[in-house]
Amino acid sequence: MRAEGPTMGLARDREETGFQNDDTRQVYEEFPFTLWNEGSLDYCRKLLADHWRWTTFKSLRVLDVGCGTGCWSIVFSQIGAVVHAIDLTPVHVSVARKEAARRGLDIRFTVADLFSFETDERYDLVWCNGVLHHTRDALAGLRHIAKFVAPGGLPGCQPL
Ligand SMILES: C[S@@+](CC[C@H](N)C(=O)[O-])C[C@H]1O[C@@H](n2cnc3c(N)ncnc32)[C@H](O)[C@@H]1O
Repeated sequence: MRAEGPTMGLARDREETGFQNDDTRQVYEEFPFTLWNEGSLDYCRKLLADHWRWTTFKSLRVLDVGCGTGCWSIVFSQIGAVVHAIDLTPVHVSVARKEAARRGLDIRFTVADLFSFETDERYDLVWCNGVLHHTRDALAGLRHIAKFVAPGGLPGCQPL
């Protein structure tokens, strides 16, 4: 029989979801990060250009892990990448899908927990922005998604 109490409750949440705890899951489900707009997309594009000199991703394959409501997925797609985006929160994926469709972008979205996500595909960039610190084990998450990087590709994760 399992002991009850706050600590055991947290451990159980960690086992059962990819989130750090149930509060994190609840916050995401109830307050989807939809606060970005065209200005945010411009800002993301500028960050990519200024920091990494990435202005075109013609046909590069990008996996956006924990895509949220799709801000980065949309930017990568707009500069030419072939984007596969995953997120554990269905409402985020649904908003992201609508935002991509509204812009005529062909982005593949999947509702998935990054810890159990599997694919034979490999990507030139595995992007994961603002996600791992909300999970039950950031390093294990990083290890898991790093295996999807193609030879010569890059992981782009922040913060860890
Ligand atoms: C702060 S938001 C960041 C969203 C997006 N990457 C961005 O930069 O706008 C964190 C996202 O990570 C997702 N997430 C958290 N844990 C996850 C997991 N284990 N697997 C997949 N997505 C997860 C949440 O649902 C949420 O959409």
